Amino acid sequence: MKNKVIVTGGCGYIGSHTVVSLIEEGYEVVVFDDLSNSKEFILNKIEEITGKAPVFEKVNLAKESVCKEIFQKHNDAKAVIHFAAYKAVGESVQKPLMYYKNNLFSLINILNAQVENKIENIIFSSSATVYGEPDLLPITESNEVKQPFSPYGNTKKVAEEILLDLTKSEHNFSAISLRYFNPIGAHSSGLIGELPSGIPNNLLPYITQCAIGILEQLKVFGDDYDTKDGTAIRDYIHVVDLAKAHVAALNRLLKKEQETSYEVFNLGTGKGYTVLEIIREFEKVANMKLNYKIVERREGDVPELYAATKLAEEKLGWKALLGLNEMIRSSWQWEQQLRASVKEGY
Ligand code: UD1
Repeated sequence: MKNKVIVTGGCGYIGSHTVVSLIEEGYEVVVFDDLSNSKEFILNKIEEITGKAPVFEKVNLAKESVCKEIFQKHNDAKAVIHFAAYKAVGESVQKPLMYYKNNLFSLINILNAQVENKIENIIFSSSATVYGEPDLLPITESNEVKQPFSPYGNTKKVAEEILLDLTKSEHNFSAISLRYFNPIGAHSSGLIGELPSGIPNNLLPYITQCAIGILEQLKVFGDDYDTKDGTAIRDYIHVVDLAKAHVAALNRLLKKEQETSYEVFNLGTGKGYTVLEIIREFEKVANMKLNYKIVERREGDVPELYAATKLAEEKLGWKALLGLNEMIRSSWQWEQQLRASVKEGY
């Protein structure tokens, strides 16, 4: 029989790509999503890509009774992959309680429900933001975890601590936190991708929305960093590679290959690119000039982040395969297909 997996936030950007990978690998997927920052039509697109629609439950997991009930209904699941969370850094500074409430209540409710129903495996969506401004590059998993700059980042740090504590008290419980670097790109079909609500905070959706004419001008945040062209360096990773890492982590959990009951892995390519390099690559791919200007640094940004990838390679048997050109090409294809389909009313 196929293993059943619950994916919270499965209609979201990284969630939807992971659902596709899971279905392709033969898992039976149930998506829990409250659609607060995603759209239900993504489920149809997942079906178009894979030939199979995941079971869908529209639920707010931050509500304890709702969470309890839905887990009882799906108590034959073997694992949870938990994406559902708020993720806008700036908003989290304005509304910290909203972030702590949503991101941490839902995690606690999910873990309680898992323990009650003996669903003893979880994969958690964490972020490289937990490293703050790193003292050492590339960043290994044993780099110090620092106080994050934002409440959003702190929800990731605290969530990881909760997972560690729980795996110590519940002896059969296993957890893996995956610390994402900068996910970009979209599925090669152009059917699913990132759907930012409002003005995007992240670089790639901002670039593609400028290029398509929704936004006027990209602001490059600072060109006085100590990097080759003065702009900040990030480790961009294709969302399809990222999705496959979740399947690898799930296989590790279900085969009980873990060395300790709580593990963390960086998910990046190990290569860093500056903001200007991203702009140049986009201009090449889209064959156009981008309207941008250099402005002040953005508060809370660090100069340089890129991952050490060895641990994920060794333990998960996973490695990012897609390069920057493919990342940017697929982001641009997605933006164009999305806008064409918006005109047609989806
Ligand atoms: C951001 C979050 C991080 C979160 C991640 C989720 C901050 C400080 N960090 O990472 O906690 O986990 O998103 O996706 O917000 N840039 C511009 N102009 C723009 C947008 C971005 O120049 O309009 C630059 C940034 O300064 C940065 C790079 O592009 O150097 C990447 O930015 P972004 O996509 O926002 O990701 P991070 O800041 O690395």
